[in-house]
Amino acid sequence: MKIAVIGANGQLGKDTVEAFTKNGDEVVGLTHSDIELSDVDSVSTRLREIHPEVIVNTAAMHHVENCEKEPQKAFVVNGLGSRNLATVARDLDAVLMQVSTDYVFDGAKSSPYEECDAPRPLNVYGNTKLAGEYFVRSTTEKHFVVRTSAIYGHNPCRAKGGLNFIELMLKLARERGEVKVVDSEFVTPTSTAELARQFVPLSRSGFYGLYHATAEGKCSWYEFAHEIFSLTNTKVNLLAAGANEFPAKVPRPKYSVLENRNLKQHGLNIFRPWQDGVREYLSSRQ
Ligand SMILES: NC(=O)c1ccc[n+]([C@@H]2O[C@H](COP(=O)([O-])OP(=O)(O)OC[C@H]3O[C@@H](n4cnc5c(N)ncnc54)[C@H](OP(=O)(O)O)[C@@H]3O)[C@@H](O)[C@H]2O)c1
Repeated sequence: MKIAVIGANGQLGKDTVEAFTKNGDEVVGLTHSDIELSDVDSVSTRLREIHPEVIVNTAAMHHVENCEKEPQKAFVVNGLGSRNLATVARDLDAVLMQVSTDYVFDGAKSSPYEECDAPRPLNVYGNTKLAGEYFVRSTTEKHFVVRTSAIYGHNPCRAKGGLNFIELMLKLARERGEVKVVDSEFVTPTSTAELARQFVPLSRSGFYGLYHATAEGKCSWYEFAHEIFSLTNTKVNLLAAGANEFPAKVPRPKYSVLENRNLKQHGLNIFRPWQDGVREYLSSRQ
């Protein structure tokens, strides 16, 4: 199939290009210099030239603090940009796979969020991503909206810069010998390589709709760090930070664990326990 990947030089985008290429698909990777989501003419012109059968949108404005500072820009990219894409995808009769986030939830639950749970974002980022979901779902029938959580991969996240959580923990342990990590926020660390591999069967399944797509299980950031140090035999004094020790500048859900209910119902779920993803990442680390 002919696949266009938007955000192709990003953390998830690079692995997405690789997963579809390995599958034998013809992949066209589009970076920000190739396409501007918020500009409908740019979206339309680029995609009409390519005429893909599937469009995977990994691009977003997703730096949480920057979204809070520039809410209008965040809405234009994450909300209206997704509408631009959905309109063009519909006109080209292409399937649109839109990546979304666990931050559409408020974290008030204490059991995993399913696709049928009502979203209630706490911040601008979550609100604008939710707007993007609604635009996609109401504009084009042939869509997959895929929510994920706490992603990490070998390619750096362009919006956040620097290191992913695993590399940051290993660096801090090396430099300081002591690391303090929040123990009161629960997520499911998800490898971008595994998520990208999930896109391949989902994209040709025909079961359009809303999906949660994360590794299995859950942990606090402290437990995530503990697993990293234990798998790498890193000697470090790991301390749990109290709930108010590192106050967040922007409200975030305390619990955003997702259940891959719809993937499982369609027999499509490929995800393993999150610890396996961390192990795979560490074993393929340069
Ligand atoms: N990070 C997480 O833990 C997490 C959790 C849940 C969901 N997500 C979602 O996962 C997706 C991928 O994240 P990631 O870490 O791979 O991001 P990333 O590394 O920052 O890559 C994002 C890509 O999007 C491009 N982009 C940004 N604004 C654009 C625009 N207006 N038009 C066209 N391209 C644009 C960026 O290009 P430039 O850098 O050149 O601007 C970059 O190539 C995002 O949709 C995010 O919301 C992330």
